[in-house]
Amino acid sequence: SATSQPYRTGYHFQPPKNWMNDPNGPMIYKGIYHLFYQYNPKGAVKGKGSIVWAHSTSRDLVNWTPQKVAIYPSQPSDIDGTWSGSATILQDGTPALLYTGINPLHQQVQNLALPKNSSDPYLLEWVKSPKNAVMAPAPENQINASSFRDPTTAWLGVDGRWRVIIGSKINRKGLAYLYRSKDFVHWIKAKRPLHSAKNTGMWECVDFFPVSVNSPVGFDTSTLGPTVKHVLKASLDDTKHDYYTIGEYDHAKDIYIPDEGSLDGDSGLRYDYGKFYASKTFFDSAKNRRLLWAWLNESSSVSDDIKKGWAGIQAIPRAVWLDKSGKQLVQWPIEEIEMLRTNPVHLPSQDLKGGSVLEVPSVTAAQADVEITFKLSNFRKAEVLDPSWTNPQLLCSQKGTSVRGSLGPFGLLVLASKGMQEYTSVFFRIFKGQNKHVVLMCSDQSRSSLNPDNDKTTYGTFVDVDPVHKQLSLRSLIDRSVVESFGGQGKSCISARVYPTLAINKAAHLYAFNNGSESVTITRLSAWSMKKAHIN
Ligand code: FRU
Repeated sequence: SATSQPYRTGYHFQPPKNWMNDPNGPMIYKGIYHLFYQYNPKGAVKGKGSIVWAHSTSRDLVNWTPQKVAIYPSQPSDIDGTWSGSATILQDGTPALLYTGINPLHQQVQNLALPKNSSDPYLLEWVKSPKNAVMAPAPENQINASSFRDPTTAWLGVDGRWRVIIGSKINRKGLAYLYRSKDFVHWIKAKRPLHSAKNTGMWECVDFFPVSVNSPVGFDTSTLGPTVKHVLKASLDDTKHDYYTIGEYDHAKDIYIPDEGSLDGDSGLRYDYGKFYASKTFFDSAKNRRLLWAWLNESSSVSDDIKKGWAGIQAIPRAVWLDKSGKQLVQWPIEEIEMLRTNPVHLPSQDLKGGSVLEVPSVTAAQADVEITFKLSNFRKAEVLDPSWTNPQLLCSQKGTSVRGSLGPFGLLVLASKGMQEYTSVFFRIFKGQNKHVVLMCSDQSRSSLNPDNDKTTYGTFVDVDPVHKQLSLRSLIDRSVVESFGGQGKSCISARVYPTLAINKAAHLYAFNNGSESVTITRLSAWSMKKAHIN
């Protein structure tokens, strides 16, 4: 119940109990959405050897029906674990799953599974290929057998051959091996990897997909052409964050080249500057969009996870597309999630004076969706950005919620207790940079819980919005132990896991605040209570 399990979410995807990590093989098939996920049926910790592909289906991406486990260790090529992988819809419409198996030698190898009955839209039964493993480390290919995993959705070249990439590393160099196949069963490793980058370590859960240069529509993974750019994402095992670059896919040479200024690894862009890992996109052919799934792990202690009996949730799926600048992606929660909105509260436009707090009344603040937009003036008063302040996360932890500034901090206090003993704060701070104003976005978890065992790291990023000419918006999806925040209409995202001890259920509150000296204008403040979704 909500009282005994205050951290179970109301509308984020999770299994009834136990451990979940990566989203696997997302797809839409015959009008049904499928999500598989890494799952330990034996407990709330990751465990060894027992990981399976659990399976759920949905008509709307909001309400989910549990299905039986789709893939589990059963043959030599996967007997020690069925790890992450992806779905590809073949030319005849059949969905094929490629996934990593752990063999008895503890080598990582790639396996193929096909539906037993492809006329079943629920795809309940999967048959493993007798040809498994279909890709494996061998003396002649020099692949590191403990770093060869997580096949992507495949794409079809103009030569009629399928391509797939698999993450790996050679010493400290991260890379994506490329394989090609005519029949999806026999795979041949290409001489050159699709891409590599030095000093980035192991690339987990790589993802490679086309985006449109001039519209938010999504493309099928095999789409090429003059209005297409490509995105390559790697989940870096070293830092546990998902980084992407935007670039050109040279399909004649079968290599990917990031654009100038689009940097690989830790100096590059992230989907999310909080918790967000092992993400995977798929093309939703029903609505012509590309959707992004990702695992949000816990920030609680392992012993607390064992006590509550579960660990891991999935982020709300996000539509992703290329920003008009061409330099970054934009992400926005799927429109379907708005079907859960109820009891809207719209506050009139108003000034929020420096040092003031405004409660958003009549929402179930533990489970809510809130959008707030700020209009700013008095830019002369903005704090000067020291050129050495290049690390936004550090800046957010040094200039947290309670550190007064001039234009900011202003934003939302979510999952807050009445007496402010607990709150999570999502805010902006405006600085005067060299030749423009700089927007900092922070998610400050330092006061999120009185329980000292949680990881309360502060997160932060810069937002590429000009606050002089544009209003500054923030949306937060609040769901009991998760706060997913979207700044600047989805240009910067920060997700956090928090475990309040007082601000739970009906005792949670929601406020707008301004702790700067200058007042800011709220031009819009809309909040909704969120209904519970039917999840598993
Ligand atoms: C990422 C990951 C993958 C692997 C899976 C195993 O979180 O380590 O690289 O396939 O989890 O569960």
